[in-house]
Amino acid sequence: MEINNNISLKSLNSFGIEAIAKTFIEISDINDLTNFHKTEILKSEPYYILGGGSNILFTKDFAGTIIHPNFKGIVIIEENKDSSLVKVFAGEVWDDFVNFCVTNNLSGIENLSLIPGNCGAAPVQNIGAFGVEIKDCMESVELYNIETGEKITLTNNECKFGYRTSIFKTDFKNNWLIISTTYKLTNTNHNFNTSYGALSEELKKHNEVSLKSIRESVIFIRTSKLPDPKEMGNAGSFFKNPIVKIKKAEEIIKIFANAPVYKFSETEVKLAAGWLIEQCGWKGKQIGNVGVHKKQALVLVNYGNAKGIEIINLSENIKKSVFDKFGIKLETEVNFL
Ligand code: EPU
Repeated sequence: MEINNNISLKSLNSFGIEAIAKTFIEISDINDLTNFHKTEILKSEPYYILGGGSNILFTKDFAGTIIHPNFKGIVIIEENKDSSLVKVFAGEVWDDFVNFCVTNNLSGIENLSLIPGNCGAAPVQNIGAFGVEIKDCMESVELYNIETGEKITLTNNECKFGYRTSIFKTDFKNNWLIISTTYKLTNTNHNFNTSYGALSEELKKHNEVSLKSIRESVIFIRTSKLPDPKEMGNAGSFFKNPIVKIKKAEEIIKIFANAPVYKFSETEVKLAAGWLIEQCGWKGKQIGNVGVHKKQALVLVNYGNAKGIEIINLSENIKKSVFDKFGIKLETEVNFL
């Protein structure tokens, strides 16, 4: 375990925002957890668990301790006739894990290729893309309580997964550290999900639908639409796609016949926040150091040296326009600190 002071977090968040952490603790060895909850500084000052930093906006310096779990390892713990259980530790890069599964002929998460971030953060917001969410194949999550030292395992059901949400955003917020997650993946008779329009279109360029061609197609779509955080700071979708009553969506379709609408439940539908933002004229706009990505209006970008407050101001203005034009309140997907 390493404890350091006054550490810059700029390279630890995909937005590339400068912020200083008073204290920074990196834990790479699971054995260090045995007495971790007794660490003096965690009793007296606030702390925050930071994974890959791909879904966070730093709004100021952090006058407490950033805990950065960096446990490594991917282990096939059980192989059955049709499926395998694979455990991945929190510090592994998510896309390295997807690559491991695809290479080992394990299906279930190939549609989630190239999502930035670490594996420990994946269950927190139930990451999803191209018609798949991790809740579809996640078996369990192994956790450590930073206040008490207690270790527990939650089943998929107990994680209370929903669209971009889980128990880790509500009852289990802050003081539970994710050690590892276990996925149940298919090893024979793959049942690929290629229903998402853009994915099925892209797959037509390939000779067959396979783990490899799905991964390649997803990577192609993502790299052509979403900015690479290494080149332009961003945190993927800044807002969630709003869930509204069917009646509300019908009112919008009456005026905008081409508005994208997806079934969500018997009474609700999901609208595309990117589309709503584009209709308000924000797509491709730059204001000082920040802006709205030119190919995907759901993504806010840092053109260099932006402060968190500039991103917040932009997002507030976007929210106001969408509310004024459509009467819909956008919610942020990114966490603020
Ligand atoms: N659209 C526009 N203008 C835009 C952006 C989108 O009109 O500027 C329209 C598209 O034409 C399409 C619809 O909105 O008809 C949906 O767009 P897209 O397929 O790009 O997906 P999304 O709903 O904007 C969601 C996820 C992404 C994920 C993609 C693909 C959320 C908040 N975002 O975006 O996740 O990659 O689907 O499955 O659910 C992320 O969470 O960071 C993320 C990138």
